[in-house]
Amino acid sequence: MSHHYNMPNGFGDREGSLFCEAVSADSLAQRFGTPLYVYSQTAITEAFAEWTKAFGVADHLICFAVKANSNIAILKLLARLGSGFDIVSGGELQRVLAAGGDAAKVVFSGVGKSGAEIELALTAGIRCFNVESASELALIEEIARRLNKVAPISVRLNPDVDAKTHHYISTGLKENKFGVNAEIAKTLYRAAHESDVLLPIGIDCHIGSQLTEIEPFSDSVKHLKNLVLDLRSRGINLQHIDIGGGLGIQYRDEEVPSAKALIDSVRDQLDELSMELMIEPGRSIVGNAGALLTRVMVIKEGEKKRFAVVDAAMNDLLRPALYSAWQTIMETAPCGAEPRVYDVVGPVCETGDFLGKDRKLGITEGDLLAVLGAGAYGFTMSSNYNSRPRAAEVLVSGTDAHVIRKRERVEDLWANECLPEPIASGS
Ligand SMILES: Cc1ncc(COP(=O)(O)O)c(C=O)c1O
Repeated sequence: MSHHYNMPNGFGDREGSLFCEAVSADSLAQRFGTPLYVYSQTAITEAFAEWTKAFGVADHLICFAVKANSNIAILKLLARLGSGFDIVSGGELQRVLAAGGDAAKVVFSGVGKSGAEIELALTAGIRCFNVESASELALIEEIARRLNKVAPISVRLNPDVDAKTHHYISTGLKENKFGVNAEIAKTLYRAAHESDVLLPIGIDCHIGSQLTEIEPFSDSVKHLKNLVLDLRSRGINLQHIDIGGGLGIQYRDEEVPSAKALIDSVRDQLDELSMELMIEPGRSIVGNAGALLTRVMVIKEGEKKRFAVVDAAMNDLLRPALYSAWQTIMETAPCGAEPRVYDVVGPVCETGDFLGKDRKLGITEGDLLAVLGAGAYGFTMSSNYNSRPRAAEVLVSGTDAHVIRKRERVEDLWANECLPEPIASGS
């Protein structure tokens, strides 16, 4: 490793070689192949503990946002630590249940929940539906009545605050599809209050992801609080406030507020309400706990650029291609090659297929690289584009490394495809 990097928790440098906990990146790649997602159990545990500590004795529930990393081994680890879960689909709910998560600690977000998903969640007995439209509320009511159940609901407020993050991951502005404004929220709460099968128990918002400032959070809490007080004056008493997820992590040189600073700022405003405080963090729990290991296949001198073609691509890690995300790319061991500037690209047939541009690396073909900060929105966003089997995932704890997802086999790719008789027989 020829450069100095800010190494995330769980990863370290021993005599110039990258380690995840007590296991070297090189030995992991040799044992399990590449591309390979590697997670540190200690880093996840510590990140969760930091949120728990931030709340202190205050009544709270941390609902890990499953979309950030949905491997059931990771969900089980978090469930054991006491985590609840924020889900956005029936599939995510079934993952949580398969991992032994407690349905009573699950909140269901998302702008388009199907009838089947609502029925599944009601039957499982989730904590709350985060409702995003009048149509959704009506559908939940209809299904709850049919199942003879009471559905606990919260309305997702769109507070129209600028999260000051990438516009693709900003969700709390008027022009975004998420949540409803305060006037519509009041109408929905009134309808729920009057229904015998709907129970308004909370209020929520989620304004975006990778937020690096506290102000947008405290601004949105102001809006939530005003609405809570207004509803109280109308006899609707909510029990919890869910401020969503969104706290950023350091990918490069971002200054990110601590979980404690965030919770302190919010609690100051909410103390007088004595409500349970809920959050839905994803990235801040798993983002820096994961790395993607990838091998350099080809070094190619273009006319204007030099490329390192690696065996991981946009189908494995979409963030750089999707929203120009910057993640540290580093050599996992010193190789002695002269550091030169490369675009680190994958084999996928898209110009947008890159993991990093203009990176100074001392590498030769066959060397191993690590893309840091890959624990959140890494594997979960991966696809089979270009018929590439998805990577394996490994969880490291001390000197142990366990496969938590096997590398996909190429036959898995067409396992659900069918050859109807006329095509099979050529008739
Ligand atoms: C409703 C909801 N809650 C929580 C999250 C998690 O956000 P983050 O990973 O930034 O903490 C998201 C992610 O976009 C979300 O849509």
